[in-house]
Amino acid sequence: MAESDPKIAAQDWFTVRKRNARAGLRKLVAIIAENRTDRAEAPLPLHKSVYMSDARNAAEMEHVFRNEPIVAGLSGDIPKAGDTLVFDSVGPSILVTRGKDGVARAFLNMCTHRGAKLVEEKEPWSGPRPRLVCPFHAWTFDPAGQLVGQPGKEGFANCEIGARNLIELPCAEHLGLIFVRANPDGAPIDAAAHLGDFGPVLAQLELHRAEPVKKGILTADANWKFALDTYGEGYHFKMLHASTIGVTHYSDRNVYEPMGRHHRVSFPDLSIGELVGKDESEWPETDYGGVHFLFPNTVIFFGAVTPGVYFTQVFRLFPNGAGRMFCQFAVYAPFGVESEEHRAMCEMAYDATATVVQTEDYRVASNGYANLVTAPDDFHVVLGANEPALHGVHRSIAAACKMPLDQIA
Ligand code: FES
Ligand SMILES: [Fe+2]
Repeated sequence: MAESDPKIAAQDWFTVRKRNARAGLRKLVAIIAENRTDRAEAPLPLHKSVYMSDARNAAEMEHVFRNEPIVAGLSGDIPKAGDTLVFDSVGPSILVTRGKDGVARAFLNMCTHRGAKLVEEKEPWSGPRPRLVCPFHAWTFDPAGQLVGQPGKEGFANCEIGARNLIELPCAEHLGLIFVRANPDGAPIDAAAHLGDFGPVLAQLELHRAEPVKKGILTADANWKFALDTYGEGYHFKMLHASTIGVTHYSDRNVYEPMGRHHRVSFPDLSIGELVGKDESEWPETDYGGVHFLFPNTVIFFGAVTPGVYFTQVFRLFPNGAGRMFCQFAVYAPFGVESEEHRAMCEMAYDATATVVQTEDYRVASNGYANLVTAPDDFHVVLGANEPALHGVHRSIAAACKMPLDQIA
Protein backbone atom coordinates (compact mmCIF):
# COMPACT_ATOMS: atom_id res chain seq x y z
CA MET A 1 0.00 0.00 0.00
CA ALA A 2 0.94 3.62 -0.28
CA GLU A 3 3.69 4.60 2.07
CA SER A 4 2.88 6.33 5.31
CA ASP A 5 4.98 7.01 8.33
CA PRO A 6 3.48 5.04 11.20
CA LYS A 7 5.43 7.14 13.69
CA ILE A 8 3.50 10.27 12.86
CA ALA A 9 -0.28 10.21 13.03
CA ALA A 10 -2.48 12.43 10.88
CA GLN A 11 -3.40 14.52 13.90
CA ASP A 12 0.27 15.21 14.57
CA TRP A 13 0.83 16.39 11.00
CA PHE A 14 -2.07 18.77 11.53
CA THR A 15 -0.18 20.20 14.50
CA VAL A 16 3.06 20.35 12.52
CA ARG A 17 1.32 22.27 9.75
CA LYS A 18 -0.23 24.71 12.21
CA ARG A 19 3.18 25.36 13.76
CA ASN A 20 4.81 25.83 10.36
CA ALA A 21 1.94 28.05 9.23
CA ARG A 22 2.71 30.35 12.14
CA ALA A 23 6.43 30.35 11.32
CA GLY A 24 5.60 31.15 7.69
CA LEU A 25 3.24 33.90 8.76
CA ARG A 26 6.03 35.56 10.77
CA LYS A 27 8.18 35.72 7.62
CA LEU A 28 5.35 37.09 5.49
CA VAL A 29 4.41 39.74 8.08
CA ALA A 30 8.07 40.76 8.31
CA ILE A 31 8.46 41.40 4.59
CA ILE A 32 5.27 43.48 4.52
CA ALA A 33 6.20 45.36 7.70
CA GLU A 34 9.65 46.14 6.32
CA ASN A 35 8.38 46.77 2.78
CA ARG A 36 10.83 44.37 1.19
CA THR A 37 10.94 41.01 -0.60
CA ASP A 38 13.45 38.16 -0.67
CA ARG A 39 15.96 38.87 -3.41
CA ALA A 40 18.89 37.33 -5.23
CA GLU A 41 22.14 39.27 -5.03
CA ALA A 42 21.83 40.68 -8.54
CA PRO A 43 19.67 40.36 -11.65
CA LEU A 44 20.49 37.38 -13.85
CA PRO A 45 20.58 37.77 -17.65
CA LEU A 46 19.73 34.65 -19.65
CA HIS A 47 20.65 34.44 -23.29
CA LYS A 48 17.63 33.54 -25.42
CA SER A 49 19.36 30.30 -26.42
CA VAL A 50 18.75 29.00 -22.88
CA TYR A 51 15.15 28.67 -24.03
CA MET A 52 15.55 28.16 -27.75
CA SER A 53 18.56 26.01 -28.42
CA ASP A 54 17.93 22.53 -29.78
CA ALA A 55 21.30 21.42 -28.39
CA ARG A 56 20.31 22.57 -24.91
CA ASN A 57 16.95 20.87 -25.25
CA ALA A 58 18.70 17.63 -26.20
CA ALA A 59 21.00 18.00 -23.19
CA GLU A 60 18.02 18.55 -20.88
CA MET A 61 16.23 15.51 -22.29
CA GLU A 62 19.32 13.39 -21.68
CA HIS A 63 20.70 14.73 -18.38
CA VAL A 64 17.51 15.87 -16.71
CA PHE A 65 14.46 14.04 -18.02
CA ARG A 66 16.11 10.71 -18.79
CA ASN A 67 18.50 10.52 -15.88
CA GLU A 68 17.09 12.47 -12.94
CA PRO A 69 14.33 11.03 -10.73
CA ILE A 70 11.11 12.46 -12.14
CA VAL A 71 7.72 12.42 -10.40
CA ALA A 72 5.49 9.97 -12.30
CA GLY A 73 2.54 10.38 -9.96
CA LEU A 74 1.39 10.24 -6.39
CA SER A 75 0.83 7.10 -4.34
CA GLY A 76 -2.91 7.72 -4.51
CA ASP A 77 -2.86 7.39 -8.30
CA ILE A 78 -2.27 3.66 -7.84
CA PRO A 79 -3.68 3.02 -4.37
CA LYS A 80 -4.36 -0.71 -4.66
CA ALA A 81 -2.46 -3.83 -5.74
CA GLY A 82 -2.90 -4.28 -9.48
CA ASP A 83 -3.35 -0.55 -10.15
CA THR A 84 -1.29 0.85 -13.02
CA LEU A 85 -0.53 4.27 -14.42
CA VAL A 86 0.98 5.40 -17.70
CA PHE A 87 3.94 7.78 -17.52
CA ASP A 88 4.94 8.75 -21.05
CA SER A 89 5.77 12.44 -20.71
CA VAL A 90 9.56 12.06 -20.76
CA GLY A 91 9.60 10.10 -24.03
CA PRO A 92 9.41 6.34 -23.61
CA SER A 93 6.05 4.99 -22.55
CA ILE A 94 6.43 3.73 -18.99
CA LEU A 95 4.05 1.81 -16.75
CA VAL A 96 4.05 2.18 -12.99
CA THR A 97 2.32 -0.70 -11.24
CA ARG A 98 1.56 -1.66 -7.67
CA GLY A 99 2.29 -5.30 -6.95
CA LYS A 100 0.57 -7.70 -4.56
CA ASP A 101 3.38 -6.90 -2.14
CA GLY A 102 2.36 -3.22 -2.22
CA VAL A 103 5.55 -2.17 -4.00
CA ALA A 104 5.42 0.38 -6.83
CA ARG A 105 7.55 -0.62 -9.81
CA ALA A 106 8.21 0.92 -13.20
CA PHE A 107 8.60 -0.87 -16.52
CA LEU A 108 8.92 0.02 -20.15
CA ASN A 109 5.40 -0.22 -21.57
CA MET A 110 6.72 -2.71 -24.07
CA CYS A 111 5.91 -6.36 -24.58
CA THR A 112 9.03 -8.51 -24.60
CA HIS A 113 7.70 -10.60 -27.50
CA ARG A 114 7.75 -8.11 -30.38
CA GLY A 115 7.63 -4.77 -28.63
CA ALA A 116 3.91 -3.92 -28.67
CA LYS A 117 2.58 -1.38 -26.22
CA LEU A 118 0.86 -3.21 -23.38
CA VAL A 119 -1.32 -0.32 -22.25
CA GLU A 120 -2.32 1.84 -25.18
CA GLU A 121 -3.80 4.70 -23.17
CA LYS A 122 -1.78 7.88 -22.76
CA GLU A 123 -0.85 9.79 -19.63
CA PRO A 124 -2.65 10.75 -17.40
CA TRP A 125 -4.43 7.38 -17.59
CA SER A 126 -4.49 5.14 -14.54
CA GLY A 127 -6.66 2.20 -13.55
CA PRO A 128 -6.76 -1.39 -12.37
CA ARG A 129 -4.71 -3.81 -14.48
CA PRO A 130 -3.98 -6.83 -12.29
CA ARG A 131 -2.88 -8.58 -15.50
CA LEU A 132 -1.12 -6.74 -18.32
CA VAL A 133 -2.30 -8.53 -21.46
CA CYS A 134 -0.54 -7.61 -24.69
CA PRO A 135 -3.04 -6.56 -27.39
CA PHE A 136 -0.93 -8.23 -30.12
CA HIS A 137 -0.60 -11.94 -29.19
CA ALA A 138 -1.79 -11.92 -25.57
CA TRP A 139 1.43 -12.46 -23.70
CA THR A 140 0.48 -11.65 -20.12
CA PHE A 141 2.48 -10.05 -17.31
CA ASP A 142 1.75 -9.55 -13.64
CA PRO A 143 2.26 -6.21 -11.82
CA ALA A 144 5.74 -7.33 -10.77
CA GLY A 145 6.65 -7.58 -14.47
CA GLN A 146 6.76 -11.39 -14.57
CA LEU A 147 5.66 -13.14 -17.75
CA VAL A 148 2.82 -15.32 -16.51
CA GLY A 149 0.99 -16.25 -19.71
CA GLN A 150 2.20 -17.12 -23.19
CA PRO A 151 -0.31 -18.54 -25.66
CA GLY A 152 1.29 -20.99 -28.09
CA LYS A 153 4.11 -21.41 -25.64
CA GLU A 154 5.50 -24.38 -27.59
CA GLY A 155 6.53 -21.96 -30.35
CA PHE A 156 9.05 -20.52 -27.90
CA ALA A 157 10.34 -23.87 -26.74
CA ASN A 158 13.92 -22.80 -26.26
CA CYS A 159 13.02 -19.47 -24.77
CA GLU A 160 12.85 -19.63 -20.98
CA ILE A 161 9.55 -18.17 -19.82
CA GLY A 162 11.25 -16.31 -16.98
CA ALA A 163 13.79 -14.72 -19.29
CA ARG A 164 11.21 -12.51 -21.00
CA ASN A 165 9.96 -10.45 -18.08
CA LEU A 166 9.26 -6.74 -18.54
CA ILE A 167 12.19 -4.34 -18.61
CA GLU A 168 12.32 -2.62 -15.25
CA LEU A 169 13.31 0.99 -14.56
CA PRO A 170 14.56 2.53 -11.31
CA CYS A 171 11.52 3.53 -9.24
CA ALA A 172 11.05 4.69 -5.66
CA GLU A 173 7.99 5.64 -3.63
CA HIS A 174 8.67 8.12 -0.87
CA LEU A 175 6.47 10.55 1.06
CA GLY A 176 3.57 9.79 -1.26
CA LEU A 177 5.54 10.58 -4.41
CA ILE A 178 6.47 8.00 -7.04
CA PHE A 179 9.80 8.76 -8.71
CA VAL A 180 10.99 7.09 -11.90
CA ARG A 181 14.32 7.30 -13.70
CA ALA A 182 13.56 6.76 -17.38
CA ASN A 183 16.86 5.02 -18.06
CA PRO A 184 16.78 1.23 -17.63
CA ASP A 185 20.54 1.31 -17.03
CA GLY A 186 20.33 4.13 -14.50
CA ALA A 187 21.19 3.83 -10.82
CA PRO A 188 18.54 2.98 -8.22
CA ILE A 189 16.75 6.04 -6.87
CA ASP A 190 17.56 7.24 -3.36
CA ALA A 191 14.52 9.49 -2.95
CA ALA A 192 15.47 10.72 0.52
CA ALA A 193 18.88 11.81 -0.77
CA HIS A 194 17.29 13.38 -3.85
CA LEU A 195 14.99 15.48 -1.64
CA GLY A 196 17.55 16.27 1.06
CA ASP A 197 16.35 19.05 3.37
CA PHE A 198 13.20 19.39 1.28
CA GLY A 199 11.97 15.98 2.46
CA PRO A 200 10.76 17.15 5.89
CA VAL A 201 9.01 20.12 4.25
CA LEU A 202 7.16 17.85 1.81
CA ALA A 203 6.36 15.29 4.52
CA GLN A 204 3.88 17.64 6.18
CA LEU A 205 1.80 17.70 2.97
CA GLU A 206 0.90 14.04 3.69
CA LEU A 207 0.95 13.36 -0.03
CA HIS A 208 0.47 9.63 0.66
CA ARG A 209 -3.14 10.49 1.64
CA ALA A 210 -3.92 12.56 -1.47
CA GLU A 211 -6.74 11.23 -3.65
CA PRO A 212 -6.85 12.29 -7.30
CA VAL A 213 -9.96 14.15 -8.37
CA LYS A 214 -9.27 15.67 -11.78
CA LYS A 215 -6.39 15.57 -14.25
CA GLY A 216 -5.65 17.08 -17.61
CA ILE A 217 -3.02 18.56 -19.89
CA LEU A 218 -2.21 22.25 -20.39
CA THR A 219 0.03 23.39 -23.23
CA ALA A 220 2.08 26.38 -24.34
CA ASP A 221 3.97 27.17 -27.53
CA ALA A 222 7.04 27.94 -25.49
CA ASN A 223 10.08 26.27 -24.01
CA TRP A 224 9.13 24.34 -20.87
CA LYS A 225 11.39 26.53 -18.68
CA PHE A 226 9.76 29.69 -20.07
CA ALA A 227 6.42 28.36 -18.80
CA LEU A 228 7.97 27.12 -15.55
CA ASP A 229 9.24 30.63 -14.85
CA THR A 230 5.63 31.78 -14.31
CA TYR A 231 5.33 29.61 -11.17
CA GLY A 232 8.21 31.12 -9.21
CA GLU A 233 7.47 34.81 -8.82
CA GLY A 234 4.65 37.02 -7.59
CA TYR A 235 5.95 40.05 -9.45
CA HIS A 236 3.31 39.48 -12.15
CA PHE A 237 0.23 39.04 -9.95
CA LYS A 238 -1.16 42.55 -10.10
CA MET A 239 -0.77 42.99 -13.85
CA LEU A 240 -1.35 39.56 -15.35
CA HIS A 241 -3.82 38.20 -12.80
CA ALA A 242 -5.70 41.47 -12.25
CA SER A 243 -9.01 39.75 -11.51
CA THR A 244 -7.82 36.75 -9.48
CA ILE A 245 -4.69 36.48 -7.33
CA GLY A 246 -3.85 40.07 -8.24
CA VAL A 247 -6.76 41.31 -6.11
CA THR A 248 -6.14 38.96 -3.17
CA HIS A 249 -2.33 39.07 -2.88
CA TYR A 250 0.50 41.54 -2.79
CA SER A 251 2.52 41.76 -5.98
CA ASP A 252 6.31 41.58 -5.94
CA ARG A 253 6.54 40.25 -2.40
CA ASN A 254 7.82 36.74 -1.76
CA VAL A 255 9.48 34.59 0.84
CA TYR A 256 11.95 32.32 -0.93
CA GLU A 257 13.41 29.29 0.82
CA PRO A 258 15.83 27.23 -1.28
CA MET A 259 16.63 23.71 -0.11
CA GLY A 260 19.27 22.22 -2.37
CA ARG A 261 17.86 22.19 -5.89
CA HIS A 262 14.29 22.45 -4.54
CA HIS A 263 12.51 25.37 -2.98
CA ARG A 264 9.41 26.72 -1.34
CA VAL A 265 8.11 30.14 -2.24
CA SER A 266 5.29 31.90 -0.40
CA PHE A 267 3.29 34.95 -1.38
CA PRO A 268 1.51 37.19 1.16
CA ASP A 269 -2.20 37.79 0.78
CA LEU A 270 -3.61 41.21 1.62
CA SER A 271 -4.80 40.15 5.09
CA ILE A 272 -1.15 39.96 6.15
CA GLY A 273 -1.01 43.74 6.07
CA GLU A 274 -3.55 43.93 8.90
CA LEU A 275 -1.23 41.97 11.20
CA VAL A 276 1.63 44.42 10.93
CA GLY A 277 2.20 46.06 14.31
CA LYS A 278 -0.16 43.69 16.12
CA ASP A 279 1.05 41.45 18.89
CA GLU A 280 1.40 37.86 17.73
CA SER A 281 -1.14 36.77 20.32
CA GLU A 282 -3.73 38.67 18.30
CA TRP A 283 -2.88 36.92 15.04
CA PRO A 284 -5.47 34.44 13.77
CA GLU A 285 -4.71 30.76 13.37
CA THR A 286 -3.81 30.22 9.72
CA ASP A 287 -3.48 27.18 7.50
CA TYR A 288 -0.16 26.01 6.11
CA GLY A 289 0.40 26.67 2.43
CA GLY A 290 3.00 27.36 -0.19
CA VAL A 291 4.35 26.67 -3.64
CA HIS A 292 6.74 23.72 -3.43
CA PHE A 293 9.15 23.26 -6.33
CA LEU A 294 10.63 19.84 -6.74
CA PHE A 295 13.62 19.77 -9.09
CA PRO A 296 13.50 19.66 -12.04
CA ASN A 297 9.91 20.13 -13.22
CA THR A 298 7.28 19.65 -10.53
CA VAL A 299 5.33 22.34 -8.71
CA ILE A 300 3.09 21.35 -5.82
CA PHE A 301 0.74 24.00 -4.58
CA PHE A 302 -0.65 23.05 -1.21
CA GLY A 303 -3.02 25.32 0.57
CA ALA A 304 -6.39 26.14 1.98
CA VAL A 305 -8.31 28.23 -0.49
CA THR A 306 -11.05 28.83 2.07
CA PRO A 307 -10.02 28.21 5.69
CA GLY A 308 -9.77 24.51 6.46
CA VAL A 309 -10.48 23.35 2.88
CA TYR A 310 -7.20 22.26 1.36
CA PHE A 311 -6.30 21.39 -2.21
CA THR A 312 -3.15 19.80 -3.51
CA GLN A 313 -2.39 20.92 -7.04
CA VAL A 314 0.41 19.17 -8.88
CA PHE A 315 1.92 20.63 -12.06
CA ARG A 316 4.54 18.57 -13.90
CA LEU A 317 6.06 20.43 -16.86
CA PHE A 318 7.72 18.71 -19.79
CA PRO A 319 9.42 19.77 -23.03
CA ASN A 320 7.96 18.89 -26.39
CA GLY A 321 11.00 19.94 -28.39
CA ALA A 322 12.71 23.23 -27.52
CA GLY A 323 9.75 25.42 -28.49
CA ARG A 324 6.69 23.66 -27.09
CA MET A 325 5.74 22.30 -23.70
CA PHE A 326 2.95 20.57 -21.89
CA CYS A 327 1.94 20.31 -18.28
CA GLN A 328 0.37 17.30 -16.60
CA PHE A 329 -1.91 19.07 -14.15
CA ALA A 330 -3.81 17.27 -11.40
CA VAL A 331 -5.87 18.31 -8.40
CA TYR A 332 -6.02 16.02 -5.39
CA ALA A 333 -8.14 16.02 -2.26
CA PRO A 334 -5.24 16.16 0.21
CA PHE A 335 -6.69 13.78 2.78
CA GLY A 336 -9.19 11.93 0.63
CA VAL A 337 -12.51 12.99 -0.85
CA GLU A 338 -14.86 13.64 2.06
CA SER A 339 -18.17 14.13 0.25
CA GLU A 340 -19.63 14.75 -3.17
CA GLU A 341 -19.64 18.44 -2.33
CA HIS A 342 -15.94 18.23 -1.53
CA ARG A 343 -15.29 16.46 -4.83
CA ALA A 344 -17.17 19.20 -6.68
CA MET A 345 -15.04 21.85 -4.94
CA CYS A 346 -11.84 20.08 -5.99
CA GLU A 347 -13.11 19.87 -9.57
CA MET A 348 -13.90 23.57 -9.51
CA ALA A 349 -10.40 24.25 -8.19
CA TYR A 350 -9.00 22.34 -11.16
CA ASP A 351 -11.16 24.20 -13.68
CA ALA A 352 -10.49 27.65 -12.23
CA THR A 353 -6.74 27.11 -11.98
CA ALA A 354 -6.46 25.50 -15.40
CA THR A 355 -8.28 28.46 -16.95
CA VAL A 356 -6.01 31.05 -15.30
CA VAL A 357 -2.81 29.13 -16.10
CA GLN A 358 -3.80 28.43 -19.70
CA THR A 359 -5.31 31.80 -20.60
CA GLU A 360 -3.01 34.06 -18.58
CA ASP A 361 0.36 32.49 -17.63
CA TYR A 362 0.76 30.25 -20.65
CA ARG A 363 -0.66 32.95 -22.93
CA VAL A 364 2.13 35.38 -22.07
CA ALA A 365 4.64 32.52 -22.20
CA SER A 366 3.55 31.57 -25.73
CA ASN A 367 3.44 35.15 -26.97
CA GLY A 368 6.78 36.00 -25.39
CA TYR A 369 8.39 32.91 -26.81
CA ALA A 370 7.31 33.86 -30.32
CA ASN A 371 9.04 37.20 -29.72
CA LEU A 372 12.27 35.50 -28.63
CA VAL A 373 12.40 33.69 -31.94
CA THR A 374 12.65 36.97 -33.86
CA ALA A 375 14.60 38.92 -31.22
CA PRO A 376 18.20 39.98 -32.03
CA ASP A 377 20.78 37.17 -31.80
CA ASP A 378 22.34 38.63 -28.68
CA PHE A 379 19.05 39.22 -26.84
CA HIS A 380 18.98 38.26 -23.17
CA VAL A 381 15.91 38.14 -20.96
CA VAL A 382 16.69 39.34 -17.46
CA LEU A 383 15.53 37.70 -14.24
CA GLY A 384 15.20 40.39 -11.61
CA ALA A 385 16.82 40.09 -8.20
CA ASN A 386 13.20 40.12 -6.99
CA GLU A 387 12.60 36.82 -8.85
CA PRO A 388 15.08 34.71 -6.84
CA ALA A 389 13.33 31.35 -7.26
CA LEU A 390 13.83 31.57 -11.03
CA HIS A 391 17.56 32.05 -10.56
CA GLY A 392 17.77 28.87 -8.51
CA VAL A 393 15.78 26.80 -11.00
CA HIS A 394 17.83 27.92 -14.02
CA ARG A 395 21.16 27.45 -12.25
CA SER A 396 20.20 23.92 -11.16
CA ILE A 397 18.98 22.84 -14.60
CA ALA A 398 22.04 24.32 -16.32
CA ALA A 399 24.34 22.62 -13.80
CA ALA A 400 22.65 19.24 -14.41
CA CYS A 401 23.35 19.73 -18.14
CA LYS A 402 26.85 21.10 -17.48
CA MET A 403 25.97 24.15 -19.56
CA PRO A 404 26.47 27.81 -18.72
CA LEU A 405 23.55 30.23 -18.67
CA ASP A 406 24.97 32.56 -21.28
CA GLN A 407 25.95 30.05 -23.90
CA ILE A 408 24.87 30.61 -27.47
CA ALA A 409 24.40 27.09 -28.76
S1 FES B 1 4.07 -8.38 -29.17
FE1 FES B 1 3.12 -8.76 -27.28
S2 FES B 1 2.41 -10.75 -27.42
FE2 FES B 1 3.33 -10.39 -29.31
FE1 LIG C 1 0.82 33.41 -12.71
